[in-house]
Amino acid sequence: MATVLSVSGSPSATSRTQRLLRHLDRRLLAQGHRVIPLDVRTIPAEALLGADFRHPAIVEATELFARADGVVVGTPVYKAAYSGVLKALLDLLPQYALTGKTVLPLATGGSTAHVLALDYALRPVLNSMGAAHIVQGWFTLDKELTVREDGSLTVAPAADEALGQVVDQFSAALGRTPLLAAAG
Ligand SMILES: Cc1cc2nc3c(=O)[nH]c(=O)nc-3n(C[C@H](O)[C@H](O)[C@H](O)COP(=O)(O)O)c2cc1C
Repeated sequence: MATVLSVSGSPSATSRTQRLLRHLDRRLLAQGHRVIPLDVRTIPAEALLGADFRHPAIVEATELFARADGVVVGTPVYKAAYSGVLKALLDLLPQYALTGKTVLPLATGGSTAHVLALDYALRPVLNSMGAAHIVQGWFTLDKELTVREDGSLTVAPAADEALGQVVDQFSAALGRTPLLAAAG
């Protein structure tokens, strides 16, 4: 069993990205992992925007990253890249906060024109933070995500199947990480 930190990088109070991550968390839980959700929007703005490394919420987030074996990083695509609040948090973490960790990058967006934002924008940042293994990510169109009146999320079947596959690959990679670390 691995500990997975599931980070939603959306600033939106009605975020599809956040709901999608919580949906995928359930698949990881069913596979026996311990899942800790972290919504960046719940971190006080003064800590994020004031670069307050000592703020309790930043210290706590740093510890959550340190304790995780794997990290799911989900972001909406804003202006052809990841969200500003996600970057604000990543900037406050130690340079190598992802050392030894398996990472699953996910994005939601309104246009397939920006499907590569995961690879040209987010992936290099995760790599620079020392991630041991960044598995295949996935970009989900917002029109494939329907928020019902009760706030629950419905994922279009084809998208749900594709997401299930990348989550399963991430889960399998988590199982291999300790072996690689021991060998290294
Ligand atoms: C300020 C803003 C900028 C956006 N820029 C893009 C963009 O450049 N490319 C894109 O595909 N979608 C863009 N979108 C659409 C969002 O990525 C998409 O609706 C996403 O699912 C929103 O996720 P959220 O509900 O978690 O915030 C933008 C949305 C907003 C609000």
